[in-house]
Amino acid sequence: MESFLIKGGVPLRGTVEISGSKNAALPIMAATLLTSEPCVIRRVPDLSDTRFMAQILASLGAEVKFENGTLNIHARKIGTYADYELVRKMRGSICIMGPLLGRLRQARVSLPGGCIIGARPINLHLKGFAALGAKIQIAGGYIDATAKKLIGTPMFLGGRAGSTVLGTANVMMAATLADGVTVIESAACEPEVVDLAKFLNALGAKISGAGSPTITITGVKNLHGAEHEVIPDRIETATFMIAAAATNGEVAITGAQPDHLRAVIDKLTEAQVSVQRRGAKLLVRRKGRLKSVDVTTLPHSGFPTDVQAQMMALLTLAPGISIITERIFEARFMHVSELARLGADIEIEGPSAIVKGGRPLSGAPVMASDLRASAALVIAGLAAKGTTQVNRIYHLDRGYERMDEKLRKLGARIQRIEEKVQERG
Ligand code: EPZ
Repeated sequence: MESFLIKGGVPLRGTVEISGSKNAALPIMAATLLTSEPCVIRRVPDLSDTRFMAQILASLGAEVKFENGTLNIHARKIGTYADYELVRKMRGSICIMGPLLGRLRQARVSLPGGCIIGARPINLHLKGFAALGAKIQIAGGYIDATAKKLIGTPMFLGGRAGSTVLGTANVMMAATLADGVTVIESAACEPEVVDLAKFLNALGAKISGAGSPTITITGVKNLHGAEHEVIPDRIETATFMIAAAATNGEVAITGAQPDHLRAVIDKLTEAQVSVQRRGAKLLVRRKGRLKSVDVTTLPHSGFPTDVQAQMMALLTLAPGISIITERIFEARFMHVSELARLGADIEIEGPSAIVKGGRPLSGAPVMASDLRASAALVIAGLAAKGTTQVNRIYHLDRGYERMDEKLRKLGARIQRIEEKVQERG
């Protein structure tokens, strides 16, 4: 397994180009199953998750070519059963169900497991499919959804933590080929849902309201091929903004969409980090001493849960008490114990982490546990004095394209090494 070896204490300086959004690309890749005509998707990040999704589409019978960030996908004829092993390994693959149901009126996927950040139920996805007329059966680790007809209908998709991003995506995709009108109330408003709706409309779907809590889909008979460029990755953008601030550097970010990050920019500004638009660039640097701030994660346009861990790494450097409350996932504090190994003082109280910031961090071997926790550990390692080894960075490679390369270009002393067994005290 590979690790990152980081010699911290170097302020990041220079320019970094943001890649296409992983969380927009995955459902858009799945949506190509809705048409028998060829599609071209541009600015797809080259990640283990997008490569997995390409394999899943190919296992269903689609022709898939992935070269220099451009995906050519032609789902001329497809089967209904996705490869159990592949689907089980990547939770995001659940979003092939909607397109399979829409196109073939049947779908079978393995029950996606929970993961380190929470149980990850799919009850709302299944509620939406059933509302459209699908019969759902769960047996032997598989979910089978079949429907003689899909009938458009109003539905409420809100759950215990508010809206569901992939649940909204899944039901929206199935509804594009239903008979009649579907109205999704308490729909997710994330930019990735808006980007998917834009692609679906390019295929000939009739969707309005994406980006608001009420999305209306008027079913059509079939969909044609289309070309699409994926939006920039707002979580990668936030990650580099925070890395710039944590190392007291000055970084220009290109290819980003700041309108997708208003809550993050607002919180960084409150923490005394300056984020300025200069033409097509975002300039990020500290405005003086970091200030402790309170953060609560919420559905969009609230503070994104996918930036919570990275923000916590930054706030360990801000003198004072910062309270970080996680309202989306029930177990998204795996990074706390690893940040403590770098000298951070953080106490968990229920859904909140109380960060007593201001003490400098010092390097140590740490273990990545999930995608965004690993990003937080890299940020902390970049800011810490001495050497930090972040182990199991396969987690990071799932969602960040060439992160070590991009950081080296900003002056970071980071290299990818084979993991040496570390004595863990
Ligand atoms: C998407 O996951 C993202 N993944 C996640 O990013 C992101 O953290 C999450 O949305 C929230 O923004 C992709 O887009 C591939 P949800 P998703 O359904 O759609 C509960 C990353 O780091 N819920 O919006 O699976 C659920 O338990 C990943 O890039 C139900 O109760 O998340 C959670 O508490 C991590 N029933 C909340 O809703 C359901 O049927 C939000 O989950 C579905 C979800």
